Amino acid sequence: MKFKTIEWKGDRVRLLDQRRLPQEVQYLDCRSASSVAQAIRTMAIRGAPAIGVAAAMGIALGAKKNRSSNPRFFAKAVEKVCREMRETRPTAVNLFWAVDRMEKILERVESDGVEETKKRLVREALQILGSDIEVNRKIGKHGKQLIKEGDGVLTHCNAGALATGGYGTALGVIYAARDEGKQFQVFVDETRPMLQGCRLTAWELIQEKIPATLITDNMAGVLMRKGLVNVVVVGADRIAGNGDTANKIGTYGLAVLSKSHGIPFYVAAPTSTLDLSLVSGEEIPIEERNIEEVTHFRGYPIAPKGVKAFNPAFDVTPHSLIHGIITEKGIIRKPFRKNLKTLFATPNSFKERFQTLPAGEAGVPYRTRNSKEG
Ligand code: MRU
Repeated sequence: MKFKTIEWKGDRVRLLDQRRLPQEVQYLDCRSASSVAQAIRTMAIRGAPAIGVAAAMGIALGAKKNRSSNPRFFAKAVEKVCREMRETRPTAVNLFWAVDRMEKILERVESDGVEETKKRLVREALQILGSDIEVNRKIGKHGKQLIKEGDGVLTHCNAGALATGGYGTALGVIYAARDEGKQFQVFVDETRPMLQGCRLTAWELIQEKIPATLITDNMAGVLMRKGLVNVVVVGADRIAGNGDTANKIGTYGLAVLSKSHGIPFYVAAPTSTLDLSLVSGEEIPIEERNIEEVTHFRGYPIAPKGVKAFNPAFDVTPHSLIHGIITEKGIIRKPFRKNLKTLFATPNSFKERFQTLPAGEAGVPYRTRNSKEG
């Protein structure tokens, strides 16, 4: 990648300000935990894994800048920062997963001491960043088989290097297929109202010289009907125990369209996006953002004054519409509930169990074609 989404700079967190893309490539230096939280809230950085990394770095920064040598006072202050991070955005579970990891380090402050805890918090944040990039490469490796020579691949929102520590999930699959020498066409949903597809995915693909065609969200059906889309790959913000998947608003509609055109619909996500504590997608908290994102365009009003608007940032795609979930551990197929549980119960043997079964496609262990169960 020719850019870095987020970097630890010792006394600050540097992130590529995604609000300014594609017109300007500008980096934002956050010198306090609160400014990192603000960057997450205002979507200067966005995308589930990326906001997890940002929250972890924000906590490390808050800890590093704290002057207290008393473990209890120090812990109280850093816990406050953790709470601030948790309150930034509600849907992507990666953020909570990352804060949990940082809190685990903090719990040991009495025995480790303040200075050692600061070092450990920084190391943990860097580890979260580094492993995210590695994990995305593995997602790409597993998912690239789903893209065939000459395919049309449709994606929604931005699940690329900008949305992660680097490389990307759904776009990671596309990058890995390209690196194998495959030629294919990517269709990019514009992704109203924040235009992550138009502003960010199209920009990333141009940087990577991957042939891409931008469409508005309401054009996907026509493309499918014309036979131009062979596979859909999207990212995820939170996946419930039955495989129901929260992702950017519009994903659900795309999944319904895919089903009615017989096009396979895949979700690409790290296991840090799985939330097995939730039975179904009904329980996923959906962020509602300011209606000005709908009624205005970059500050300019485009709707009549006083009109009501609805602005959920995410929707939930039911598991029945999803062909598979591409994770760093392999492609998980239906029944999702059973296979997700197996994944967590036996992480080391997952590859052997799920990738080598002679079911035609990798990772089709217990497929029940007509099963309604996740
Ligand atoms: O509101 P955003 O831009 O943070 O939403 C991002 C998405 O919905 C992405 O598709 C998702 O986080 C996956 S990113 C690898």
